[in-house]
Amino acid sequence: MTSRDPIAKSTPPAAANLSRRALLSAAASAAILPALAGCRSTGTEPLASAPAPAPAPIPPAAPVTGPLRIGLIGCGGRGTGAAVQALRADKNTRLVAMGDVLPDRLNACLNAVSKEMAEEAARVDVPESRRFVGFDSYQRVIDAGVDVVLLTSYPQFRPAHLAAAVAAGKHVFAEKPVAVDAPGVRSVIASARLAQQKNLGLLVGFCWRYHDGMRATFDQLAKGAIGPVLSVHTTYHTSTLARRPRKPEWSDMEFQLRNWWHFTWLSGDHIVEQAVHSIDRLSWALGDRIPERVTCLGGRAARSGPEHGDVYDNFSAIFEYPGGLRAFHTTRQIDSCPSDNSDYVVGVNGRCEINGWKPVYAIRDHAGKKVWNYTGRDDRDMYQTEHDELFASIRAGRPINDGERGASSTLLAIMARMAAYTGQTITWEQAMNSQQNLTPESLAMGPAPSAEIAIPGRTKFI
Ligand SMILES: NC(=O)c1ccc[n+]([C@@H]2O[C@H](COP(=O)([O-])OP(=O)(O)OC[C@H]3O[C@@H](n4cnc5c(N)ncnc54)[C@H](O)[C@@H]3O)[C@@H](O)[C@H]2O)c1
Repeated sequence: MTSRDPIAKSTPPAAANLSRRALLSAAASAAILPALAGCRSTGTEPLASAPAPAPAPIPPAAPVTGPLRIGLIGCGGRGTGAAVQALRADKNTRLVAMGDVLPDRLNACLNAVSKEMAEEAARVDVPESRRFVGFDSYQRVIDAGVDVVLLTSYPQFRPAHLAAAVAAGKHVFAEKPVAVDAPGVRSVIASARLAQQKNLGLLVGFCWRYHDGMRATFDQLAKGAIGPVLSVHTTYHTSTLARRPRKPEWSDMEFQLRNWWHFTWLSGDHIVEQAVHSIDRLSWALGDRIPERVTCLGGRAARSGPEHGDVYDNFSAIFEYPGGLRAFHTTRQIDSCPSDNSDYVVGVNGRCEINGWKPVYAIRDHAGKKVWNYTGRDDRDMYQTEHDELFASIRAGRPINDGERGASSTLLAIMARMAAYTGQTITWEQAMNSQQNLTPESLAMGPAPSAEIAIPGRTKFI
């Protein structure tokens, strides 16, 4: 290899080859100790100077043969889907408890799940006494004699719900993203490690990681089908999400909850809530290496009205990796503009285009000739596969735990948002140790956090 060879320029130094797990350990192990002890991290703890030793391998638990009782926390669109998928994944499961902050959502979800499972009606066994409403409903579901909990409420609440579930010894399916701020990410890392010690399942809903075509294509990249990767660009260009105009009987809190996508404290903003799927795939294409820093441009060009809260409608992130490699992510939620949800990966010997929705899984040489295309099965629903694999792993006594990876991909999106909001370049370490805590002091139907739109150059990094 000559010094002009693009590989020489882009090959990262040894530090870049550290596994994601080792770097997460280095950055987070000191910061999460209080969380392991059951306290919320203040975010002011120092960084560890070296990776923590790898934890001792956990012996497999005994296979699980009895019935598994499922509790659902967050009974909206994804919760309804996840409940049905969990029931279909394993014949010896029952849905026995449900919790939500909004009673109409819980009732609609119970009706929808019951309809889907009409031919096995006994497997939806949620009497009035096990339907819980309120901000404490998660704990009441966990305490209702369940074995597995499905965490499908808003991202803001995931760290607290996950910590309570793992403390109580429950297996967990947790939707993405797993947090909206760095204290939440650190809490999730602590919970993931505790779940590992307790041999509990924890599957994070980065569903494309469970998709057959995606798995085959990213496997090709990992095997070097386009040579060393030089750059990645992932896109999530789409239209706006629903707006729910205010009703007179709603408190500020209920108004924000019903328009949650548009409030950063609840959703993390759309780069964290939605585009995180594409940021997760950006990371996957790079072998889940950790970037050094991110610069991100963003703003709010076409949002208006109180239902649109404080979130931006576009972000363009530049992640910088050791050795000079740059990876790009662009996302937009604006109506009447072209959509794109693709991953474009360029390597020394070729390029790869991926779009799971179309679908496109194509590898070409630099002359444009197709050299590989996914031709395997495309009939499995990735959302179902997630649950099939989670329940099979619990049954086998070797539960899946991808919680740390889920936390890491979530932090990538959060750090890009931090960079856009402040106008500053943010390092991985800064992001991991950020003290910005978006959780309000008290949670109740009444007053809610004010929605102040961040202004780059003026909004401070905390
Ligand atoms: N993997 C995917 O492709 C995918 C797709 C859609 C949504 N999601 C994720 O799933 C989650 C839920 O999204 P959704 O589209 O189902 O939203 P949704 O609004 O339809 O449902 C969320 C439900 O959670 C309830 N909830 C909110 N806070 C709660 C709390 N503290 N305790 C109990 N219940 C609470 C809400 O009232 C609502 O019923 C989000 O994190 C979202 O990003 C993932």
